[in-house]
Amino acid sequence: TLHANAATQMPPFPEVTGDKVEADGEYKIKFSIGTTQSGAQYRGLEYFEKIVEERSGGDVQVELFHSAQLGDDLQAVSNLQSGTLEMTAPSTSPLVGMFPEFAVFDLPFLFPTPEVADNVLDGEIGQRMLEEASRQGLVAIGWAENGYRQLTNSETPVKEPADLEGLKIRTMQNDIHLDIWRTLGANPTPMSFAELFTALEQGVVDGQENPWITIEASKFYEVQDYASETNHVYTPFITLVSARFWDRLPAEYQQLLREAAKEMGEYERKVSRTLNDQIKQELKESGMNITELSPEQVKVFQEKLAPVYDEWRDEIGGELIDSIRQVS
Ligand code: PAF
Repeated sequence: TLHANAATQMPPFPEVTGDKVEADGEYKIKFSIGTTQSGAQYRGLEYFEKIVEERSGGDVQVELFHSAQLGDDLQAVSNLQSGTLEMTAPSTSPLVGMFPEFAVFDLPFLFPTPEVADNVLDGEIGQRMLEEASRQGLVAIGWAENGYRQLTNSETPVKEPADLEGLKIRTMQNDIHLDIWRTLGANPTPMSFAELFTALEQGVVDGQENPWITIEASKFYEVQDYASETNHVYTPFITLVSARFWDRLPAEYQQLLREAAKEMGEYERKVSRTLNDQIKQELKESGMNITELSPEQVKVFQEKLAPVYDEWRDEIGGELIDSIRQVS
């Protein structure tokens, strides 16, 4: 299967180093995500589990849940707030209602390369955003990546915005994403990821957009014949801990979780990028019709989306947008 190939190509875990932390007591972390067990994100979580359990000498136990088993991105965050779940790592997009600054990640074509994304997330801006998101019952401790989003659909090859006319596209629950697809001429509808496969299968929507890894891991190729490599939005994952749980943890273990989240983020991004091109290739070989847009074709999408920036600049903050544009 596609996944079997991808799984054998996963970069191995880096060696877990560091001293075992000495502390009494036992702490259990349920860590739940929306993506499936075969994606880069889950692989990152497995590495997180290994780091935390080894360095705490088993004093902190991590149990992993995938495929929105304990709730989709928004539900999981609310479970953290009520203290029924300890950790999750959602895309930033559904959280914009709580943390308006995150909307900057939804602007189209803002991150020209993965390196710029890294420098923003791992630099001053990303650090400030983690602090900003550490409220409302949440503690934000790190970044990983969902990655560059690509368009798939069941109807037609999409080479230019005109090809999107009338296509029903599922988006995340996020107003900028809705605005993007409306501006391009499609007919977008927000929907929880958990409902998406069935909606595509039954033709409730014609298409969706997610990184190659998620397209493969969620088997969207079974119900989507066409894909376009649009790279239209780069979506980070943010690693969140329930403040109720966090406040019970000894300082050494808080520090351990911060370190493990950082190491997971570095490793997960490596896995995500290694697999991205391989999986695109595998999807192609499996018969998916993939349109790779030329720089000129991408420019047509960018120009068409200029009004999205005008629309959102004031609300998101022009300074933040400009400061990201200065990162190289
Ligand atoms: O499309 C989405 O909703 C998100 O990209 C996903 C796959 C749930 C990851 O956060």
